[in-house]
Amino acid sequence: MKISEMQIKRKDTSGTAEEIAFHRVIESAKDEEERICYDPYAIHFIGPELLKFLEATACNYPVAKARMEEMNRLFPGTQNSIVARVRYFDNYLKASLEEGIEQLVILGAGYDTRAYRIKGLKGKVRVFEVDYQGTQNMKMEKIKEIFGSLPNHVAFVDADVGSEELGIRLIEHGYDPSKKTIFIMEGLIYYIPPEGVDNLLSFIVHNSSKDSKIIFDYFPESVVDGTCELEVGKRIHERVKQSGEPFKFGIKEGNIEKFLKERGYSQIQNVTSEDYKKLYFHGKNENRDVCSLYVFVHATVK
Ligand SMILES: C[S@@+](CC[C@H](N)C(=O)[O-])C[C@H]1O[C@@H](n2cnc3c(N)ncnc32)[C@H](O)[C@@H]1O
Repeated sequence: MKISEMQIKRKDTSGTAEEIAFHRVIESAKDEEERICYDPYAIHFIGPELLKFLEATACNYPVAKARMEEMNRLFPGTQNSIVARVRYFDNYLKASLEEGIEQLVILGAGYDTRAYRIKGLKGKVRVFEVDYQGTQNMKMEKIKEIFGSLPNHVAFVDADVGSEELGIRLIEHGYDPSKKTIFIMEGLIYYIPPEGVDNLLSFIVHNSSKDSKIIFDYFPESVVDGTCELEVGKRIHERVKQSGEPFKFGIKEGNIEKFLKERGYSQIQNVTSEDYKKLYFHGKNENRDVCSLYVFVHATVK
């Protein structure tokens, strides 16, 4: 990437981070027994245009309703897969906390609010939120608005997660490589070029204690290179290309275990759309479709 492009990107706020927060807002507005995930803070990270759309939807304006139906028609199951991802990653973090995780690093954090809403972090676990400068600045501003100040247990780190500066910046902010750490990479890995993904996975293996954990989601390589045969895969590919945050990395179908093993990970668990559909979509939610292209994986540092 040319320096000029990198600087523009780093100073911008991420549109995809806002979009994911928007999905959390929609799900969080549902009744407690119906919603798949809950994030009371997500609403604070929605910009004026999406807010206007939300208000119109709440009032049931036909135009907003039609736009929502159109999104569901073009991208069937994606909203449901995204909220299932939030739930799955929340649960994995909670289970890791019970197992004694000492540090949490959220890479490509965007407007992730786990540091503020998951019990058991504050006062016990140091959290590092890593993203580009523009998104970090916006996040800090919003966090101050919500809580009055920036919380002590969170460090806001401005870094490119696929480059060498990740380690440098984390250490500057007090990251301890000898601690058992969980690295959350939600909605991230496909935005990093392959060599950056290798750097990142290698950094984690060499700079965290044994039994540290990673969790991330990925798309099959065919979605990333535009050859996916499913219509929804083609549309996802086109949409991100036009958004200015194009996909750069995918994993060949059936290859995830080999890929992570070769990079120093064990206890690899791949979580398919069938798996999370079975886990979370019951009763009233039974007929909600998920998108088979959204896959999650978690693993442990050997
Ligand atoms: C789709 S958003 C997901 C945000 C958040 N993890 C969530 O799930 O709500 C992707 C985020 O990754 C960030 N990102 C992408 N590439 C990055 C890189 N190389 N270094 C740091 N952040 C990056 C973007 O700025 C954006 O905030």
